[in-house]
Amino acid sequence: MPASGGHDHRGSPTGCAVKLPQIANQGSIFKNPAPRLYDDLAHLWPLISPRADYVAEAQFICELLKGALDEPEGTLPAVLELGAGAGHTLVHLADGYDTTALDLSPRMIELCRGTSPRTQVHVADMRSARLGRGFSVVLAHDAVEYMLTVEDIEAACATAAAHLEPGGVFYVGPTYLTETFQDHDSAGDAAADGHVEVRYVSYVRRTAADRYELIMVLAIRECGAIRFVEDRHLCGLFDAETWRAALHGAGFAIEQEWNAGAGSRTTDRIPHSAFVARRT
Ligand SMILES: C[S@@+](CC[C@H](N)C(=O)[O-])C[C@H]1O[C@@H](n2cnc3c(N)ncnc32)[C@H](O)[C@@H]1O
Repeated sequence: MPASGGHDHRGSPTGCAVKLPQIANQGSIFKNPAPRLYDDLAHLWPLISPRADYVAEAQFICELLKGALDEPEGTLPAVLELGAGAGHTLVHLADGYDTTALDLSPRMIELCRGTSPRTQVHVADMRSARLGRGFSVVLAHDAVEYMLTVEDIEAACATAAAHLEPGGVFYVGPTYLTETFQDHDSAGDAAADGHVEVRYVSYVRRTAADRYELIMVLAIRECGAIRFVEDRHLCGLFDAETWRAALHGAGFAIEQEWNAGAGSRTTDRIPHSAFVARRT
């Protein structure tokens, strides 16, 4: 990944107090260069996207699920999140649900262990994972944009179906649908802890009918050194009808479809659109 200026050192300078978790080098399992934010920059994730930012979204998901679940009194519904990252959503569900996280990135799963110790964790690809156990609920939201093709979203829906008994519930909340995509949308912020300070801007741009790119430029001050990093995330973009077809094809009946409305901007990370589907 090219730096956008200045220096871009991977890893921490020698003698620095900030240590990246030691992960065996398995090579990149992402199709394209792994987004650095989920790899060597994963230690910045809790600063850039802190768990407190996920409270409203977790409440939104719970509200949608409330009417859909019919668990016996006293049992905690088992929930699996596909692409759970650092567990910033699951940690807010851990009191009411028996939580399991699945993510492609070993570093994000390592963060999840720290964020949500009660959550069971698995490093796996949401397109092919088979954990050998069932759940009452499967969630997929801010990770499904990394599905680049219709076959990818069909495979993710098949993974959800494979982990649900008939009657189980699948919540899907893609950050964008084709209908709600806001080309050239941008964001930026700054955060710091005792060791690291990060300032960033992020920008999305449509690169094809079914693709967009999230470009992040980060200024990181760490251990007395400043570096500038450009991190590009390749994402897929699909319309509501494509999602409906993938859900039906995997054996789901859509029970609720939530839309914030065309052109609206949502706050508190609540997605523009979400589906609640039941395994038939
Ligand atoms: C925006 S982050 C999710 C953040 C998460 N909501 C949290 O609470 O921290 C997107 C995640 O999707 C994961 N991901 C991308 N492609 C994946 C795949 N094919 N299977 C599983 N996880 C994937 C990335 O590793 C990353 O952790």
